[in-house]
Amino acid sequence: MVRMIHALEHRRVLLSRLIRNNSTILLTILPVALFAGCYAFVSDETAPEWTDPIGARNDIAAIASGTGGPGAAVYNARCAVCHQMNGKGIRGVYPSLVGSDITLGDEQLAVLIILHGLQGPIERDGVKFNGVMQPWKNDLSDQEIADVTTYIRTSWGNSASEVSLEMVQEIRDRTRSKIGAFTEEELLSTL
Ligand code: HEC
Repeated sequence: MVRMIHALEHRRVLLSRLIRNNSTILLTILPVALFAGCYAFVSDETAPEWTDPIGARNDIAAIASGTGGPGAAVYNARCAVCHQMNGKGIRGVYPSLVGSDITLGDEQLAVLIILHGLQGPIERDGVKFNGVMQPWKNDLSDQEIADVTTYIRTSWGNSASEVSLEMVQEIRDRTRSKIGAFTEEELLSTL
C-alpha cells in the first residue's frame, strides 16, 4: 500500500515535471512562431487590401475637394497655418478673413495681397497687427489664386463674388513690376 502511494507520488512528480518541461518548450516555440508569423506578414509580396471600413477615404476626399471647391485645398495647405482653418486668424498676429473688409471688398484687393504680400501696421476691429505676409506669386498659379480668393470670399459665412482666372491673370500682368509686399496705404492707392 505504502509502495503504491509512493509509486503514485512518483508518477505525479514525473507528470508535473513533464508539464513544466513542455511549458518551457512552449515558451520557446511561441516567440519563434509569433516572429515567423510577423515575418510572413511583413514579407508578403501582395500589399494588404485597404478596405476602408469607415469610409475614411471618402472623408479625406471630401475635405480636399470640399464644399469650398478646389480653393479649399489651396487654403488648407497654404493659408490655414496662419489664418486658421476657420479663417479667424490669431488675434493681434494673423488677421481674421471672416468679415474682413479687404477680403470681402473689391476683389482686386485680396488678389493683390495674395500675389505680392502685405506688411506693416494695420488695425482690424480695434486690434492692431504689424506683421508680414509673404508674396505667393511664385508659388501659386493664377488658377490657384483665383480658387483660393473665391474660397476665402465665400466661406465661413463670407459671401462676396467669385474671382475668375482672367481677373487674376490681368492683375498679375498689370503689377508685374511690383517689388516687395504692399503696405495698406499702397494697396488702397492702387484702386
Ligand atoms: C505666415 C503666415 C501667413 C500665411 C501663410 C498667409 N498669411 Fe495672409 N496675412 C498674414 C499676415 C501677418 C497678414 C497681415 C499683414 C500685416 O500685418 O500688414 C495677412 C493678411 C492677409 C489678408 C488681408 C486681411 C485684412 O483684413 O487686411 C488676406 C486677404 C490674406 N492675408 C489672405 C491670405 C491667403 C489667401 C493666404 C494663403 C494663400 C495667406 N493669407 C497666407 C499672414 C499669413
